[in-house]
Amino acid sequence: MTYSILILNGPNLNLLGTRQPDIYGATTLADIEQSCESEAKKLRLALDFKQSNSEGVLIDYLHQAREQHHGVIFNAGAYTHTSVALMDAISSIGLPVIELHLSNIHARESFRHKSFIAPVALGQICGFGAAGYTLAMNAMKTHLEAQS
Ligand code: DQA
Repeated sequence: MTYSILILNGPNLNLLGTRQPDIYGATTLADIEQSCESEAKKLRLALDFKQSNSEGVLIDYLHQAREQHHGVIFNAGAYTHTSVALMDAISSIGLPVIELHLSNIHARESFRHKSFIAPVALGQICGFGAAGYTLAMNAMKTHLEAQS
């Protein structure tokens, strides 16, 4: 069976590559998308890759994923630390969601230690930079196969 996954990116992640490279690295979101595409081929996953700076649009993408995908890998950016609405959306769609961050949010400012996504996520991957995306894809595939 070919599983289909959505990789969803939240606010300011469109600026990766130029945004605080000391924290987030020099890799652009387009570079990350490309490496996810090649990992998807290796893993035989269908992949959709999206980004939005808007909380409402991210909620709409999560709702649409219910009809289109088997799982979601989600870097919610700063909304991770603020958004009950995104937490509710994840709880509502009944899909496994892996929370992802490039940086180790637990080693940063205390306001980043709180995640509204973590209690409703399958698990969290953080601190591995851009490599976290392909780690999450492997974790999602393993999970989906174990579920079937
Ligand atoms: C981030 C961590 C968040 O705290 C921050 O607001 C981001 C990026 C990460 O990928 O490390 O925008 O999600």
